[in-house]
Amino acid sequence: MSQSVTIEAEKPVKPVPTAIDLREEFESSGVKDVLAELDRDLIGLAPVKKRIRETAALLLVERARKRMGLAHETPTLHMSFTGNPGTGKTTVAMRMADLLHRLGYIRKGHLVSVTRDDLVGQYIGHTAPKTKEILKKAMGGVLFIDEAYYLYRPENERDYGQEAIEILLQVMENQRDDLVVILAGYAQRMDRFFESNPGFRSRIAHHIDFPDYTDDELFRIAETMLGHQNYHLDRPAADAMVGYIAKRRTQPHFANARSIRNALDRARLRQANRLFETANGPLDAEALSTISAEDILASRVFTMPGNKAAGLGKGDQ
Ligand SMILES: Nc1ncnc2c1ncn2[C@@H]1O[C@H](COP(=O)(O)OP(=O)(O)OP(=O)(O)O)[C@@H](O)[C@H]1O
Ligand SMILES: [Mg+2]
Repeated sequence: MSQSVTIEAEKPVKPVPTAIDLREEFESSGVKDVLAELDRDLIGLAPVKKRIRETAALLLVERARKRMGLAHETPTLHMSFTGNPGTGKTTVAMRMADLLHRLGYIRKGHLVSVTRDDLVGQYIGHTAPKTKEILKKAMGGVLFIDEAYYLYRPENERDYGQEAIEILLQVMENQRDDLVVILAGYAQRMDRFFESNPGFRSRIAHHIDFPDYTDDELFRIAETMLGHQNYHLDRPAADAMVGYIAKRRTQPHFANARSIRNALDRARLRQANRLFETANGPLDAEALSTISAEDILASRVFTMPGNKAAGLGKGDQ
């Protein structure tokens, strides 16, 4: 019986660098570009942007330490994003996925956004396969769980949500080098959720709070959104928009930047109708891209009482 001995070809050993230029890494990894885009595209959110810059710095240093053979541990990157509706949580989560991908912490950098219904089944035996299917889709990227507290229903003893929670906790622990989970929702409910689910709290390293936008920030968000679509407000329309924001904030279902996006969709609809009905000759680009005061002032928001008990329709959010 002959014994075969395999002699492995010597692999070239990558030399350990003696020094790493963090600035150079910052630029060549593309992290600099992601942060610059974040700064440019998103109005306000100063505390959020600061936390993201800090996280990026930590990860760049971790990466450099790893390459130098210093003690390192894959950092826990699971996060929670708390804030009111329309404060930019989903938008920032997508940027975060891109950032983590460029830093090499996740293979693909995609974001899978889910709510309770995507993870939890209606019948016995349905939850585990549903949750696992979503986890499979999210591997190598970010799993974003919106209104995560709905996973936990203490009033229902036999709730299937518990099963999903257990699977999530296991994967968050064992596969944290290949999947980042971001839990999102209102701050108070999220706090209560963490109190009842200490397993989640201990697996989440970064809590980022998204403040409500100020009136001025909402106005700048409106201008930015319109700019991206090649529209602009004329002077009286800008004044009307300032009034709109102040009023809208006091009304039900106010949803920060989302309310602005919806208001602008309706303003463009009114502008189109106005042009269609009044134009009696060719229209130039300026006319086609100008929002006038009347396109804003026709909103129901101006005739509604500033009282949260009064109901606005879903489309007015
Ligand atoms: N700082 C910002 N600058 C510009 N646009 C913004 C900003 N924040 C949010 N937006 C825009 O507002 C809309 C709502 O944002 P997003 O969906 O990220 O909010 P959210 O916090 O996830 O809301 P929800 O809780 O309702 O899911 C999006 O169209 C987004 O592009
Ligand atoms: Mg969202």
